[in-house]
Amino acid sequence: MGDHSQLKITKIEYNKDRPKAKNPVKIMDLTLRDGHQSLFATRGRTEDMIPVAELMDEVGFWALETWGGATFDTMHRFLNEDPWERIRTLKRYIKKTPFSMLLRAQNLVGYRNYADDVAEAFVERAAENGMDIFRTFDALNDYRNFETVVPIIKKCGKHFQGCICYSMTEPRLGGDVYNLDYYVNKGKDLEKMGADSVCIKDMAGLIAPYDAYAIITALKKNIKVPIHLHSHFTSGMASMTQLKAIEAGVDILDTCMAPYAYRTSHPAIEPLIMTLLGTNRDTGFDIKKMAEINEILEKDIIPKYRHLLDETKLSIIDINVLLHQTPGGMLSNLVNQLREMDALDKIDAVFEELPRVRKELGQIPLVTPTSQIVGIQTVNNVLFDDKNERYKMITSQVKDLCYGLYGKTAVPIDPEVQKNALKGYKRGETPITCRPAEVLEPELEKAKEAVKGLAKDIDDEILYAIYPVTGKKFLKWKYGKEEPPEEVKPITMEQVKAEQELIAKAKAGKLVEKIEKPAPPQSEHTRTFNVFVENEYFEVKVDEPGGAPVVSYAPPTQALAPMPAAAPVAAALAAAPEAQESSTEEPEAAPVDGTPLEAPMPGLIIDFEKQIGDSVKKGETVLILEAMKMENALPSPVSGTIVSINCEIGDNIAKGEMLCVIK
Ligand code: CO
Repeated sequence: MGDHSQLKITKIEYNKDRPKAKNPVKIMDLTLRDGHQSLFATRGRTEDMIPVAELMDEVGFWALETWGGATFDTMHRFLNEDPWERIRTLKRYIKKTPFSMLLRAQNLVGYRNYADDVAEAFVERAAENGMDIFRTFDALNDYRNFETVVPIIKKCGKHFQGCICYSMTEPRLGGDVYNLDYYVNKGKDLEKMGADSVCIKDMAGLIAPYDAYAIITALKKNIKVPIHLHSHFTSGMASMTQLKAIEAGVDILDTCMAPYAYRTSHPAIEPLIMTLLGTNRDTGFDIKKMAEINEILEKDIIPKYRHLLDETKLSIIDINVLLHQTPGGMLSNLVNQLREMDALDKIDAVFEELPRVRKELGQIPLVTPTSQIVGIQTVNNVLFDDKNERYKMITSQVKDLCYGLYGKTAVPIDPEVQKNALKGYKRGETPITCRPAEVLEPELEKAKEAVKGLAKDIDDEILYAIYPVTGKKFLKWKYGKEEPPEEVKPITMEQVKAEQELIAKAKAGKLVEKIEKPAPPQSEHTRTFNVFVENEYFEVKVDEPGGAPVVSYAPPTQALAPMPAAAPVAAALAAAPEAQESSTEEPEAAPVDGTPLEAPMPGLIIDFEKQIGDSVKKGETVLILEAMKMENALPSPVSGTIVSINCEIGDNIAKGEMLCVIK
């Protein structure tokens, strides 16, 4: 053990004669970003950070992680919040402690590589808005994807933290790919690129305590810049890992405030303060201050988010990480995806297929977005493949990966899979070997043009460039051009209290069941009408018990595909007599003239590659459906001409919905 590993302990009373440590462990707090991203689906709102902001600024953290990762996406998509505004608002309360963000290198805060002009503008604006530390990672650890953003971080005079995504193919450190040499070489590469610090980013909680010790010891020997460890608690090892990392001389650790700690989040800071108290690595933090912050979080903030916490299991650790090396977040995505497709019973098949898909796709680390890419492709394979054909439904992202658009994979991609994926691929069938963004056309000017009149500044334009569909929706909310839907509005403490009271009443048996008013019996004169209102279909029964007609609505009997020529209500009623004899039968969908293309999964329509009147070959992409953040290119089931399209960009559609007709 080196000099760093000697923990010198002085017997002291808390805060009385507490010596200042010679080499205190520096702490970055993740509560305001990774904490709520891990536990509460990234739904943390700025207004819920303000009550603790000034107190957190007093603790003495090395930095506060406040932005980046999934926050940019969820804020504009689900919270009706301007992501840029969050940095500016928090800066008004947090004046001393630097801000850190998680930057997905050339993926920025999205799920694909963006063009250089967008990447440069994004980093510049993030720095300008108040970001100080840019924790930068690439999902493939291909640092060519750092080449555009790093010079901008440096030009803005900000801290560039380079990450090594921690990955493995064996149960512990070792093997042919992710061994000690791999991490040391990556660390050296980052230092050469000008990293101000190097972070081991263990997003899945895979790093075992002694492996962390070995890696940090080796890195400390080989590079000069500070070493930072980011290890999720998911598997239950992270607290032990942190202690071994401290013994190996780690400089900076990531923690969360207790209410935002553990599970798939990070170890809490409070036990670490006590663990190190009086040692030469003492954080120097005041644990009473922590208690003060935690009380606010517990009482005033967490109740609004509690429903988002996955409490289906009592266990706070996920041993699947130890069993399958599957990141916790990825697992819950897979489960959600399977549930949406009514295929939860296939989970074991997914576990079996996952390592196979990962290996075929170049044994890449599993971190956003590669965890989604591998995960969703695995689900697609399990659901759609048959004995004769694998990879029947390949996502656009897998095609991009096979083309080289994400960068260089750890080992070469399986040539069969690669060839199959690139069949008819829009950029070409021969994969590239250059830096991915070199083949990307500039995107910013086009984006500016596309939101002219709606976007008011460069921040709006960048938001749109990164998220065109949901970004445009958000800008319409922001500027009052569209009413934001109910579900993006915050939950208030009043609502939480009302709900708690209701639950308490129910438990005490004081809730009375609602009595439905029975419908009057129908006479033999009842006539049934089919009524089409825009995309909905109603079956209306009209009974005339010797007076004015009574119209009662039946709920839509099935989620019908939008009717190409929806008849107005009056016309439907007028034309109805022919339909009256079938009053007791289930209505039938209008017969389709041609072959329908149905949605194989629920999702969001994001692009059309074909329009009405276009001819299409069997297997050719008709439209792009986004599901679980992955883009699925939906192939035409037959050759023919597109005769109708029944959806629009931005539509949320259900599984089985008819999207278009080919004849
Ligand atoms: Co993380």
